[in-house]
Amino acid sequence: MVTSIGIDVGGTKIAAGRVDEKGSIVARARRSTPAQSPDAIATAIAELIAELHTEDVAAVGVACAGYIDRAGTTVLFSPNLAWRDEPLKERVATNTDLPVIIENDANAAAYGEFVHGAGRDLGHMVMVTVGTGVGGGIVSNGKLFRGAYGIGGELGHMLLVPGGRLCGCGNRGCVEAYGSGTALTRDARELVRSGAQFGRRLTDLCDGDADKLTGAMVTTAALEGDVASIDLLAQVGNWLGEATSSMASLLDPEGFVIGGGVADAGELLIDPMRSAYGRSLTGRGYRPVASFVRAELGNDAGVIGVAALAVNPGDR
Ligand code: BGC
Ligand code: NA
Ligand code: ZN
Repeated sequence: MVTSIGIDVGGTKIAAGRVDEKGSIVARARRSTPAQSPDAIATAIAELIAELHTEDVAAVGVACAGYIDRAGTTVLFSPNLAWRDEPLKERVATNTDLPVIIENDANAAAYGEFVHGAGRDLGHMVMVTVGTGVGGGIVSNGKLFRGAYGIGGELGHMLLVPGGRLCGCGNRGCVEAYGSGTALTRDARELVRSGAQFGRRLTDLCDGDADKLTGAMVTTAALEGDVASIDLLAQVGNWLGEATSSMASLLDPEGFVIGGGVADAGELLIDPMRSAYGRSLTGRGYRPVASFVRAELGNDAGVIGVAALAVNPGDR
């Protein structure tokens, strides 16, 4: 069976897998992301390819948290990584004989969900990945939407709060500054630092050191029933619900597919999102309402999607 390697370079970790034609990951490897060093990222990618390479591998796809040019060769900019005009495709290709494609991580996740996951019946879907950043992938009429220069669908950098919190992209008030894993962690740390009893479970989980608190800890506590953690996730979901209602004004999708690490919280994130969406959607009560579903491929959507694109480069 033909397989391909998918590598997903996120703001926090690099996840990699060898993926078969059905979209199953048959082998895995991972590293933490050396976010400040494009050289170290390139080295890590080369190592992961070497680790996963077998005879049946036909191609490599690299998904990245950044703005990729239309030609699919260069990362023009990345809000949460040090890539600026980075010739990533060439860098990866010099270390392997396999054909290489690069793709935005959320686009890759959208394609993965569209081909093998929750979007398989959705001709018009919007993927929102909620992790270190907030990513967007738009599938319209069964095709990934890219815009003129390849950078379309950067939903995380739509303006949500004029003059609001600073975003990694340098602007203020982006969706990402309110509706990401980074925002969740920031708010949870603030609660722990306040010393409020309400945040006690989180304080326990990080041994009283707010800097050690992670988004995954908040999700764990929320799934155990900790009210403060449930509230923190609901706030993030609320912001994302308002943001997606604005997206619907523009795109009118059949469904939103929610992925990324924070989607591990499942309905604790998605239910507040759906409610806020319903409360703020224009024409509510008089129009069909998009569905909100969790990514079926979970956090693997980017790896699986970019591996699938690598063997179907015509879809890129
Ligand atoms: C970046 C996107 C990326 C998303 C998720 C955002 O900050 O602008 O390109 O898809 O994070 O990683
Ligand atoms: Na995108
Ligand atoms: Zn931004």
